[in-house]
Amino acid sequence: MTELTNQRVYLSASLVAIPLFVLWSWRQRRLNIEAAEMAQTPTKTVVIIGASWAGIPVAHGLLKDVPNAKVVLVNPSEDFYFNIASPRLSTKPNDIPREKYIYPIAPLFDKHANAKKNFEFVLGKATSIDLQSKNVIVQDVNSGSTKTLAYDYVVIASGSTSNATTGTDSLQVPFKESGTTKLEAELKAAQEAIKSAKSIIVGGAGAVGVEFAGEAAEAYPSTQVTLLTNSDNVLTGLREPTRQKAAKLLKQKGVKILTDKTVTSASRDAAGKWNVVTADGQTLTADIYVSTTGVLPNNEFIPASLLNKDGWVEVDSHFVSKADPSVYAVGDITQYSARLVSRISGQVSVLLSNLKADITGKGKRGTYKDDSSLIVVMPIGKSTGTGQLGSFTPPGFMVSFIKGKDYFTGSGKKFIAG
Ligand SMILES: Cc1cc2nc3c(=O)[nH]c(=O)nc-3n(C[C@H](O)[C@H](O)[C@H](O)COP(=O)(O)OP(=O)(O)OC[C@H]3O[C@@H](n4cnc5c(N)ncnc54)[C@H](O)[C@@H]3O)c2cc1C
Ligand SMILES: *[C@@H]1O[C@H](CO)[C@@H](O)[C@H](O)[C@H]1NC(C)=O
Repeated sequence: MTELTNQRVYLSASLVAIPLFVLWSWRQRRLNIEAAEMAQTPTKTVVIIGASWAGIPVAHGLLKDVPNAKVVLVNPSEDFYFNIASPRLSTKPNDIPREKYIYPIAPLFDKHANAKKNFEFVLGKATSIDLQSKNVIVQDVNSGSTKTLAYDYVVIASGSTSNATTGTDSLQVPFKESGTTKLEAELKAAQEAIKSAKSIIVGGAGAVGVEFAGEAAEAYPSTQVTLLTNSDNVLTGLREPTRQKAAKLLKQKGVKILTDKTVTSASRDAAGKWNVVTADGQTLTADIYVSTTGVLPNNEFIPASLLNKDGWVEVDSHFVSKADPSVYAVGDITQYSARLVSRISGQVSVLLSNLKADITGKGKRGTYKDDSSLIVVMPIGKSTGTGQLGSFTPPGFMVSFIKGKDYFTGSGKKFIAG
């Protein structure tokens, strides 16, 4: 071949190649545009029930990492409640400013570029889940009107409550949100009742009972605070050094500890006094009674097929319901019994990896192991306290520094800002 023919071959080859290249790059651009459109237009809807320590980070994670998910977050109140601080809030009303423990939920999500399109906050309480048709029924707490929310996946993060929180056979003390929009009124009523009491019985000496008794005794030194435990000492289940330290510090604050006292009933008499009956047949009387005997699942709306015998949602190590693959659950409402905020971030990251894999078909599925050692710090008043960090019992000044000064409210929003 001569050089000329060679050139012609090259020339004709490029004449064909140029339009082909144009066609190819045009198609490529279309594909990219389609992919971008896909990413912005949600194809799956995730309804999250409950906007607290567990539900809020799940919503943040989906908006951040799963662009084709529409996120609907349902909660009975517009505000998040930093409930961890409630032993202090209920006993020392002016200690922590309101904005450090109550935050509006919806604005937390404004920071996500896709929030306008992909995020919706629904004010209301889930009243039922229809697993067949994949709908959640939500009722407005104030107006009573209902809404039906269709889902591809539902995440149950409705948490737990207690008899004190709902005011069931106990003075109502909002250790959690009670599922109404009246948190502030409830808190104020509790603060006033505690302030005017000359005697308080606290029934149940777990972490909440110990913290609450310590705060009440410190705030009102002339009020007789009596703490009842159903075993030989406070904080059953924790290490001996922690239990002994807690009892010692409480006694120093003037708290009377009665051991082997199991509360069988409590009620208010006509004169307004509380009568607390214990299993040994005794009746103790005080101006107020605060029950801290345990947690109860927020499960009235959850189909029985999803619950274990104690009423908690039974999930596998991916936080998927054992009864329905479209149902996830996380936080206090699951069967995992260490019901602590400190466990939740580990749970949420595992849940998100699995939900993301379900929706996008991509990514590694994490697995949860419920075996991390116990981390609890319990202030007993402002300047001291105890706890259990693995096998270490932190000294009082350390508990005060970590938590006692403000019950973590100083770091407040960071926990839920996403
Ligand atoms: C007094 C106290 C102090 C504590 N201190 C600590 C501590 O220091 N450290 C620690 O790690 N843990 C602590 N805990 C435990 C911690 O509060 C819980 O582990 C945590 O609240 C669980 O978060 P959650 O999001 O799973 O559920 P929750 O906080 O119980 O929130 C559930 C949410 O779901 C909503 N909800 C309920 N029912 C419905 C429904 N039908 N429809 C829609 N929404 C619904 C509720 O209103 C609420 O907003 C403390 C608990 C108490 C009571
Ligand atoms: C709550 O109160 C009810 C009614 O008094 C009682 O039967 C139940 O044992 C209490 N549960 C807890 C966890 O405190």
